[in-house]
Amino acid sequence: MAYSEAQVIAGGLIHIPIVIGLFRAIEGQIGKKKTLSTSTGSSVPATKAPARKKPHANVPVNTYRPKAPFEGEVLENYSLLKEGAIGRVNHITFNLSGGDPQLRYVEGQSIGIVPAGEDAKGKPHKLRLYSIASTRHGDNYAGNTVSLCVRQLQYEKDGQTIDGVCSTYLCNIKPGDKVKITGPVGKEMLLPDDEDANVIMLATGTGIAPMRAYLRRMFEPTERQKNKWNFKGKAWLFMGAPKTANLLYDEDFEHYKKQFPENLRYTKAISREQKNTKGGRMYIQDRVLEYADELFALIEDPKTHIYLCGLKGMEPGIDEAMTTAAKAKGINWAELRPQLKKEDRWHVETY
Ligand code: FAD
Ligand code: A2P
Repeated sequence: MAYSEAQVIAGGLIHIPIVIGLFRAIEGQIGKKKTLSTSTGSSVPATKAPARKKPHANVPVNTYRPKAPFEGEVLENYSLLKEGAIGRVNHITFNLSGGDPQLRYVEGQSIGIVPAGEDAKGKPHKLRLYSIASTRHGDNYAGNTVSLCVRQLQYEKDGQTIDGVCSTYLCNIKPGDKVKITGPVGKEMLLPDDEDANVIMLATGTGIAPMRAYLRRMFEPTERQKNKWNFKGKAWLFMGAPKTANLLYDEDFEHYKKQFPENLRYTKAISREQKNTKGGRMYIQDRVLEYADELFALIEDPKTHIYLCGLKGMEPGIDEAMTTAAKAKGINWAELRPQLKKEDRWHVETY
C-alpha cells in the first residue's frame, strides 16, 4: 500500500519522542564524564549547576486582569504644573487596600486603567497603561497606595479639539471615585539590586514617572530606612520639559540634589526656553551630547544602567546623540547598545 504524505508525516512524528529519548540518554552519558578546566590547567569534574532562578522572578505581575479589575478609590488628584505651563499633567493616587490579594508592585512597573464608559461601538473601553510614579511603599509609606503622573492627551482634528479618553477621565476624577485598575505589569524598567549601581535617567514629560519612584527609593529618608537598600552609586537625571513651569516634581529633585550632592546630578532641557548649539529647541539629546565624556565614562562602568522613558519620538534623537558621543570616544554605539541590552543595562519604555 502506498503511503500518503500525511501518513509519512504522522509516522515521522511518532518517532520524535524516541529520537529525543536516545539523544538525552547519550547526552547524559557525555555529561557524566564532563570536566571543567581550572586556571591552573588541571581538570575537575563538573558539578551540576544549581537551577538558576529567572531574573526578577519575585516581581508581581497581572495580579488583576481586565475581566476582574481591582476597584481602587481615588485619594488625591492634583495638578503638577505651575502657572503658565502648557497642557495638563496630574498626580493621582489610588487606595489599594481591601484587595484580595492586595495589588503589590515595585518601582519601574506600570498599571492598567480601564476608563469608565463605552467606546463608539458600545463596548467597554480598553485599558491604557500608566507608569507607576510611587515606590512600593506608596506616597504615604503605608504600602497600600499607588500614584500616577498623567498628561491629558489633546489634539486638533478637522478644526476640533479631541480629548484622549483615558487621560481625560483620569485628570477629571475626584477623591472618592472608584477606578478599575489592572496589573501590575512590566519588568523592563526595574532598578538593579546593587546599591553601588549607577543610574542614568533620560526622561521627557510624564516619562519622569518611573524616575520619580527610583529617586524616592534612593533619596527619601523614610524610603531608605524602610528599604534596607541604601543607594550609594551615582544617579543622573536628564529631564525634558517644554517650559520651566512644566517641570514635574522639580522641587523634590532639587532637594535630593542638595541632600546628596555626591550621588545625584540633575540636568534639565527646557525646550521652549533654552536653545541648543544649533539654535533649535533644547532637547535631552542635546544635553547628552554636552555631557558625552562624563556619560560615557560612567557607561564604561559595568555597574551603570540607563533608563529611557517618555515620548517615543525621542528614541531616534537619543540614538543619534549616543552614536556621535560614542564615536568621539572611539566606541561604536550600534554595537554597544545591544551589548548593554544583553547585560540588562539599557532599559527603554516609550509611548
Ligand atoms: P486615546 O483616546 O486612546 O487616544 C489616543 C489615540 O489618539 C492615538 O492612538 C492616536 O490614534 C490618536 N492621536 C493621538 N495624538 C494624535 C494627534 N496629535 N493627531 C491625531 N491623532 C492623534 N501616559 C501618561 O500620561 N503617563 C504615563 O506615565 C504613561 N505611561 C505609559 C506607560 C506605558 C508602558 C505605555 C504603553 C503608555 C503610557 N502612557 C502614559 C500613555 C497612555 O497609556 C495613553 O496612551 C495616553 O494617556 C493616551 O490615552 P487616551 O485614552 O487619553 O487617548
Ligand atoms: P517640545 O514640545 O517643545 O518640542 P511634555 O510631555 O510635557 O510636552 O514634555 C515633552 C518634552 O519633550 C518637551 O520639552 C518636548 O519639546 C520634548 N520633545 C518633543 N519631541 C522630542 C524629541 N523628538 N526628542 C526629545 N525631546 C522631545
